Amino acid sequence: MDRRKFIKNAGYGLGFATFTPQIIATAKNSRGSFRHGVASGDPWQNQIILWTRVTPKTDLPIKINWQMSYNPNFKQLVCQGETVTYKECDYCVKVDVILPKEEIPGTTYYYRFLAGNESSAIGRTHTLPDQHLDKIKLAVMSCSKYTAGFFNVYREIANRDDIDLVLHLGDYIYELGMGVFGDEDAEAMNRVVKPSYELNSLKDYRQRYAQHKNDPDSQAMLSRHPLISIWDDHEISNDAWRLGSVNHSTDGSEGTFDNRKKNAIKAYFEWMPIREPGTHNGFIHRSFQIGDLVDLHMLDTRLVGRDQQVSYSNYTGSKTKQKPVHILNKSPNQFDSKQFNQDLREPNRSILGMNQEMWLETRFKKTNATWTILGQQVMLAPQKWSVTKDLIERKSSESSQELDMAMQKETIRPELTKNLDAWDGYPAARSRLYKTIAEHKKKLVALSGDTHFSTAHNLVDKSGQLIGAEFGTTSVTSPSFWDNVKINKIELEKKQLDFNDGMQFLHLRNRGYLVVEIDREKAAGKWHLIDDVKTKNYKTWLEKTLILEINKKGGLI
Ligand SMILES: [Fe+2]
Repeated sequence: MDRRKFIKNAGYGLGFATFTPQIIATAKNSRGSFRHGVASGDPWQNQIILWTRVTPKTDLPIKINWQMSYNPNFKQLVCQGETVTYKECDYCVKVDVILPKEEIPGTTYYYRFLAGNESSAIGRTHTLPDQHLDKIKLAVMSCSKYTAGFFNVYREIANRDDIDLVLHLGDYIYELGMGVFGDEDAEAMNRVVKPSYELNSLKDYRQRYAQHKNDPDSQAMLSRHPLISIWDDHEISNDAWRLGSVNHSTDGSEGTFDNRKKNAIKAYFEWMPIREPGTHNGFIHRSFQIGDLVDLHMLDTRLVGRDQQVSYSNYTGSKTKQKPVHILNKSPNQFDSKQFNQDLREPNRSILGMNQEMWLETRFKKTNATWTILGQQVMLAPQKWSVTKDLIERKSSESSQELDMAMQKETIRPELTKNLDAWDGYPAARSRLYKTIAEHKKKLVALSGDTHFSTAHNLVDKSGQLIGAEFGTTSVTSPSFWDNVKINKIELEKKQLDFNDGMQFLHLRNRGYLVVEIDREKAAGKWHLIDDVKTKNYKTWLEKTLILEINKKGGLI
């Protein structure tokens, strides 16, 4: 059987088909080059996104050919096609390849792009299997701040041959300018961001993505494995919710939040190998069926439906600028606990939005793989901080303002130490989610990032029923809140395990990534850490393995 097929693909979502042949012909002399690597993403059984970007020499459209093959020598092509890229999509190239129908799901392919005589790097990817599957291995990561260090985590994952899929849970870029967070060593590492100021315009966001996609470790990882990504807040602006963010001024000096959000989303869709929603509505919640083993639901806890975060500072005597910290910088004596709790527990408060909640319930009804995995941004399990004076050896001059209260009061009141930007700020929504999971009898593993530390929890509802487990990955590079706090972190980790029911693991000290290995009997979380992100000479080790067995009621072991 001749498997060669030529697919004339008009591109997906970027409107490539609107150019006439004459205009394209004119562009034949304007070759670019492939400086931003290649990537693949959002694999289905017979369909996959291929991505690259061309650096143009003029601002005319450029014709690009793409090829897929079983081998990196491209002697036998599985399929090929042509498309056009142009200025209006920043010369990004995104093709949603529909494979020939004879192709078998779960196959590994090589791909490349051609522009004139130039070839891109060769990427490797695979489609999802459609039938019985014994095991799968996911690499999970979050929070990759360019200025904070080298992407050693990406390099590690690029070098692993045993990974089936890479999940990035958000904070793929940070909107921040220089001098705000985690960039003390950026100059020495030659990792100052472009632009150096805070992102707002489309040009700004594009420039930041271009810099990330220029990184050799990023290129190595993305060319080696298919990616499934979701955004968190920093792809737009810190602590974003559906209509605003803490880091977007409401006085008009930064324009409207809506405009900034549109810029951020457009750049994200241009530069990430994500399948775009048909209506350009910015919905990124979506599902992947991985054989009969895993139903993977990727959620948007950030933009599509999140109500505004409750802020501790709004319940004390005077208002202060809300900070993304876990500990209140105000006297608990002045705290209006009654009103705070009433607002926090308001039954209609949502982190997913009602439409997404209904969508997820429908997905639960329609799917029946052995395991259900939620890929989402922020911590799902309840978490409180226990910080006592004896743990604090010496506070650093800055950054530990929030610990002043802890030192004065010996112990912070637990109710004040929640992360209100996570599910802890949306308890009614969490209860609804737990109820739906229990009703549909799902074997659940929830994945989360955002915290910049490694953690694992048994998820338990109010009646004590085990709902599933949560595996939280640390950051690729972004510093932890605790990095600059002079505190005995090993002691704090131990105290936290005692202080939080359900918490099974906490490691505050290193950057790294998570591997989730799933088979028909168990889901294992493996936390791989690295000792240094400020140098490329790093060490890596497996810090912890925790297992959720399919029929055990006791949770993680
Ligand atoms: Fe982050």
